[in-house]
Amino acid sequence: MSKQLGRLGWGLMTFLSLGIVLLASRYLSLNPDVFFPQQRNVYIAHELGIMTHVVGGVLALGVGPFLFLGRLRAKRPAIHRWLGRIYLVGILLGSMAGFYMAFYAYAGIAASLGLGLLAVAWFYTGLEAYRAIRRGDTASHRAWMIRNFGLTFAGVTLRLWMPLTIMLFGASAGYEVVAWLCWVPNLIVAESIIRGWFRGRLVQTAQLLQRS
Ligand code: HEM
Repeated sequence: MSKQLGRLGWGLMTFLSLGIVLLASRYLSLNPDVFFPQQRNVYIAHELGIMTHVVGGVLALGVGPFLFLGRLRAKRPAIHRWLGRIYLVGILLGSMAGFYMAFYAYAGIAASLGLGLLAVAWFYTGLEAYRAIRRGDTASHRAWMIRNFGLTFAGVTLRLWMPLTIMLFGASAGYEVVAWLCWVPNLIVAESIIRGWFRGRLVQTAQLLQRS
């Protein structure tokens, strides 16, 4: 049961990640008509920044889910290592350019702070994951990678929360709220996965649902 739940979670995570990869890739056409309309002029003025960020984000979100496939890790470790390197290049580009773009974020200082801090945490957790595997500490590498992908997944959760926060608080305040809401809960979920806080409860709930 816990394996089935894991597969379901991975499937959903991968489906959403690849969906956002497709959506974000339209930026790579360099056609300003597809840019976030309120920020179009900002992105035209900082084209290298936004494009570097999108390339990094697309790489990380596109490759990340496959790093969590245990069977691939065990049977084809070389593929896992190569995907891991592509992923980390994505984090490096995405976080540095994301930090830069945070200074020009839509709405106000709260959005800039939320997205800027997310960029720092994204970079730091990626660095720790890399350092852990270089010293051969697999358990710590796994934990840092779960935290790091939780932050990469902000690229998905931002777009899921946005309609709700904008509906509740309006465009500007809604965007400031989502700049935090897109990643703080993800880190809590990542920590709960690492520490196995809800594992038993989730299995119990799924079993009860199956019987009812
Ligand atoms: C997880 C760390 C991330 C950080 C720190 C971050 C930061 C930012 C910032 C500061 C902006 C400019 C926002 C504005 O103009 O108000 C932005 C925009 C954007 N980001 Fe990210 N981002 C992250 C993840 C991702 C991922 C994983 C993707 C997608 C694959 C992505 C794709 C985009 C796109 C397409 C835009 C343009 C705005 C839009 O059309 O929604 N970002 N990001």
